[in-house]
Amino acid sequence: MKVNRICCIGAGYVGGPTMAVIALKCPHIEVTVVDTNSNRINSWNGPLEDLPVYEPGLKEVVGESRGKNLFFSNDINLAIERADMIFMAVNTPTKKEGEGAGMAADLKYIEACAKTIAKVAKSDKIVVEKSTLPVRTAEKIKDILGKYGHDEVQFEILSNPEFLAEGTAIQDLFKSDRVLIGGDETDSGQKAVQALVDIYAKWIPIEKILTTNVWSSELAKLASNAMLAQRISSINSLSALCEKTGANIDELSKAIGMDHRIGPKFLKASVGFGGSCFQKDILNMVYLCKYYGLEEVAEYWHQVIKINDYQKNRFAQKIIDDLGGDLRGKKIAILGWAFKANTNDSRESPAIYVTKKLVDSGANVKIFDPLVSLSIIMRDIEDFGININACSICNNIEECINAVDLVAILTETLAYKDLGKDLSIYDGRGINKEAKYTIGK
Ligand code: UDX
Ligand code: UDX
Repeated sequence: MKVNRICCIGAGYVGGPTMAVIALKCPHIEVTVVDTNSNRINSWNGPLEDLPVYEPGLKEVVGESRGKNLFFSNDINLAIERADMIFMAVNTPTKKEGEGAGMAADLKYIEACAKTIAKVAKSDKIVVEKSTLPVRTAEKIKDILGKYGHDEVQFEILSNPEFLAEGTAIQDLFKSDRVLIGGDETDSGQKAVQALVDIYAKWIPIEKILTTNVWSSELAKLASNAMLAQRISSINSLSALCEKTGANIDELSKAIGMDHRIGPKFLKASVGFGGSCFQKDILNMVYLCKYYGLEEVAEYWHQVIKINDYQKNRFAQKIIDDLGGDLRGKKIAILGWAFKANTNDSRESPAIYVTKKLVDSGANVKIFDPLVSLSIIMRDIEDFGININACSICNNIEECINAVDLVAILTETLAYKDLGKDLSIYDGRGINKEAKYTIGK
């Protein structure tokens, strides 16, 4: 089966970069990215300097293909109708209400997508799950497509989870460790799998393209994120023990990571992991385990989240204790709002949590991040119920650290490495040599 046209629903951190790279590597395929948010689409069509997602290398890739075989459009129905293959890359946040609230993934956007595809499609389509989804979601999508679709139209559902990390998305897409494609074991399922393999094979060595059944692929994404997060919680739990015993967490990480069976990556102690995926995916997996009656397994993975919460809290509490327990009249600089360096994304960022706790204890905070926009910081402050009157947002580092009692480093942005000796620096990322307190030391 040859794919000539691709549509991707969801022009976010995943859909945008992934489709830009597919368009670049497959100039013979027309790729159209659509989104219900027309402002987002307008920004994707606007100046390359102001794309809605910041990723190193992204603007160059978009600049290469946009208007040739890469399009961003508000006409969702037309793009679906014309496509042979449709990627679903809409967000799947943790459910806020109803059964599984606070844990299960909210599939309402995925379900809405499936309904739209079913109603609009008049020819056969391959539907690809790109968003991270609970295992067995393909079954749900199949039901919706069957219920609302035209009788003569055939759908094949594939799972093709993304493994890109923000800040290195383009690099990760160019040189993936693996591409995972799950499909039905039927003849038509295997043909659909092959169609997607052929696309990735344009730039990924074939031995790195792994094909599995749909359920393994869906679960592998959740499990991969859970294992990565588990390493961070493991090292973060040990950082607390280091502080009590005089061991140094960086030396410990190095010593542990030199064992080739363990390896050195994802062993950097921090104020905690953030990002749109880790917490959401683990909670989702915990919910699934409970659903299947696997209480012990659920509790094991839940502990990864609990240690992460403990670590964010521990860092903020250390500041509060060192400042005498009462932060009224104290001014604190918050350096870094994004959940990690090289991204403008602040979803689940530890900085938000730490700021809330400091402000709730009476502090005034000054916030600076070189990549996160004022509007996003304001949105987070409002969404998390942080007292806005206690916050000011700065335009540069100098302004932020001027006349403060303490500086808290919450994102590992290189610019925060050398701030000088005279400040009282609390470093949650282990990057500043002059820090008075560094997590795990
Ligand atoms: C999302 C999920 O968070 C992640 O779990 C999954 O692996 C991939 O999709 P991301 O791309 O970072 O990741 O989300 P986001 O930047 O919020 O983009 C989703 C886009 O989908 C938004 O632009 C939103 O407007 C759009 N959307 C959402 C639709 O076009 N239609 C909908 O019905 C819902
Ligand atoms: C993650 C996965 O890495 C990626 O494969 C998946 O597709 C999406 O989720 P992302 O959340 O973008 O990617 O970033 P990642 O680099 O994994 O970092 C997540 C968080 O962990 C960040 O807050 C980061 O600062 C923190 N981290 C990472 C640590 O605290 N220590 C480490 O050693 C590594």
